[in-house]
Amino acid sequence: MTTAKLQYQSGFGNYFRSEDSRCPGALPEKQNNPQVCPYGLYAEQLSGTAFTAPREHNQRTWFYRIRPSVIHKPFKPYTHKYVTYDVKDVPPNPNQLRWMPFPLPAKSDKTDFVDGLRTVCCAGDPKSRNGCAVYIYTCNTSMSENRAFYNSDGDLLIVPQLGSLEVFTEFGRMTVSPNEICVIQQGMRFSVNIKEESRGYVLEVYDNHFILPNLGPIGANGLANPQDFWAPTAWYEEREIEFEIINKFQGALFTATQKYSPFDVVAWHGNYVPYRYDLSNFVVINTVSVDHCDPSIFTVLTCPSQKPGTAIADFVIFPPRWGVAEHTFRPPYYHRNCMSEFMGLIHGNYEAKEGGFLPGGASLHSMGTPHGPDGPAFEKASRADLKPERVADGTMAFMFESSLSLAVTAYGNKECKVLDEKYYECWQSLKSYFNPNKREVNI
Ligand code: FE2
Repeated sequence: MTTAKLQYQSGFGNYFRSEDSRCPGALPEKQNNPQVCPYGLYAEQLSGTAFTAPREHNQRTWFYRIRPSVIHKPFKPYTHKYVTYDVKDVPPNPNQLRWMPFPLPAKSDKTDFVDGLRTVCCAGDPKSRNGCAVYIYTCNTSMSENRAFYNSDGDLLIVPQLGSLEVFTEFGRMTVSPNEICVIQQGMRFSVNIKEESRGYVLEVYDNHFILPNLGPIGANGLANPQDFWAPTAWYEEREIEFEIINKFQGALFTATQKYSPFDVVAWHGNYVPYRYDLSNFVVINTVSVDHCDPSIFTVLTCPSQKPGTAIADFVIFPPRWGVAEHTFRPPYYHRNCMSEFMGLIHGNYEAKEGGFLPGGASLHSMGTPHGPDGPAFEKASRADLKPERVADGTMAFMFESSLSLAVTAYGNKECKVLDEKYYECWQSLKSYFNPNKREVNI
C-alpha cells in the first residue's frame, strides 16, 4: 500500500496531482477535459464547493477513470435501522451521559463498516446542510470485494479505536490505525476492509469542510502541522463485477448496482482529497506557568460555522504531554459549556476520570450541563506535588465539540444497552471544604 505526503507539485496553493505508476502520462497535459483523454480514460469532476466559491475556498478534483460513475442502475432504499436523524421518540435529556464500550457484533453476524454504523447523537438537518452527527462503527467483515459507500450529506471524520482500517477510495488506498484519523469528504466513494474486529467513532459535518484552526500568536507552526496530513496516491483496479454502491442522501440510505469497480481512477488532480493524520504528530501547546488552558488548545481540525470562532464541530485530542503548571489545579476545571462535548477514548486512562470512562466508550456533556473531575480526581489533584510530570502517557482521549445541541438517538439511549445509569454518582462524593474562618485549607 502506498500513500504519499501531500505535495506541492505543479499548480498554485494546495493543489495535488497523482498518477498510477502503471500508466505514466495519464494526466492530460494542457487541459482538464480533452476531446480524448490519455489511455482512453473518461474525465469526471468531483466538486467539493460551489462552482462559484471564491478561489481561496474553491475545491474540486478531476478524475481520469476507466468508466464514468454514472453507469449504474437506479438507487433504491436500503434499510438501515441505525443510521438515523430521527430523535423524536427520545425525550431531550440534559444529564451527563456516559456509555460503556459499545458492543461488537456477534461473530456469526457478518457486519461491515456501513452496516455497523450507529448514530449515537445528532443535531440539525442534512437537507438544509446545517448540523452534525456522531456515530459508532463496529464491524467484523470487509467491504471492498463488491461494496462501496458515499455520503451526499457531508464529510466523515473517522477515528479508529480497535483494529486498523484499509480504506479504498477513488483517489487510492490508505491504512488508518488506532491513534490515526482519516477524513473522507462529501461525495467520495470508499470501501473499508478490516483484518480483525473493529470499532471506532465517526463525526459527520454538513455545513463545511474541516480546516486547520488558525494559530494566532502561536505562529506558523504548532498543533497539527499541514505537512503531516497524507493523501492517497492514484491506484486503480479494473474489475467487471456486480458492485453495490450505497449512498447516504438526506439522512437515508440507498443502494444501486453497477457492473464494475468504482475504484477505477487511473489519475487525478485537484485540491479536494481524502486524507489521514497520525495523532502522535500533534504538537502540543500548553501553559508553562499557571492555570489549565481551555481545551481548544488541543484542536486538530475544525468545521467552522457562520459565527466567528464558533465551530459546527471541532475535533480535539488530549495527547501525552508534560504538565508543568505551578500553583494550579492541573486537571480540567469544573465548567458549564455553551457547547456540546462528546468524548471518546482510543486507549489508556483519561486523567479527569480514571475509572468508568473506557476505551471504546463515550460521554456526552451537553450545553450548560456541569461536569469536571470526579471526587477522587479532585482530591488527588488538590494534594499533588506539582513537579513537572507526564500526563496521559499511553492515553489518547478526544472530543467532538459542537456549537449545536446534540440529541441522543434511540440507539444511544437504550438500544445500545451500554448507557451507564450511574454516571452521576462519580461526582456525589464531592463535598464542601469551606471554612469562613480559615483561608488556607488542606483538602
Ligand atoms: Fe468539558
